[in-house]
Amino acid sequence: MTNTPTHWDNIYQNQKHSQVSWHQTQSTISLDWILKFTNKNDSIIDVGCGVSILADNLIDKGYTNLSLLELSNSALSTIKERLKNHAEKVHFHHENVLEFKSNNQFSLWHDRAVFHFLTDEKDQKTYIKKLTNQVKKGGYFLLSTFSPSGPKLCSKLDIVQYDVKKITQLLGGSFKLIKNTSETHSRPNGNTQDFNYFLFQKID
Ligand SMILES: C[S@@+](CC[C@H](N)C(=O)[O-])C[C@H]1O[C@@H](n2cnc3c(N)ncnc32)[C@H](O)[C@@H]1O
Repeated sequence: MTNTPTHWDNIYQNQKHSQVSWHQTQSTISLDWILKFTNKNDSIIDVGCGVSILADNLIDKGYTNLSLLELSNSALSTIKERLKNHAEKVHFHHENVLEFKSNNQFSLWHDRAVFHFLTDEKDQKTYIKKLTNQVKKGGYFLLSTFSPSGPKLCSKLDIVQYDVKKITQLLGGSFKLIKNTSETHSRPNGNTQDFNYFLFQKID
């Protein structure tokens, strides 16, 4: 199995969105931290958004400048349709985050369970370069990955588990850790998965 648009389109076309293992009925830690560290007009991007409820939650809280980036056309079409009444507040990007380029810099870059699929060191470096270019100085990187006590696979794909030491070293000196925490996510099938959440601030 490889991390391709076809792989993800198959999942979104063949599984109920409420049954995928990473499904949340409400964003939890991401929403709390975004509300705490940003303002409602700040530009926020959710990379690998899938059909996540985060954008809906942020719109409900008054956020007006959201960008959603996703590899799977199927997932992006679903979320676009769901948010059609808020089109003026959301910019959609159908692309691979590794190829993403924008003239905008963001106040916060959110990634829940996307970066951890990058098992190749070259791809990790490319992602971090994009992230560094696209986040404003003083802006934030909010990352959620499986933790060392969590699964080693997701959707039959290998993932990389992260703890504070590993992600801090990988990100390098441009980002400072502001906070981190763990979450045991309850899957729709009743099993659980351990996630780590990290909030970094771009300092130069
Ligand atoms: C485990 S799901 C998480 C979805 C969402 N972040 C959430 O928390 O509900 C991973 C998502 O990342 C997307 N994805 C994987 N690799 C990607 C890439 N290189 N660029 C953009 N999206 C990607 C997949 O299509 C999928 O929707």
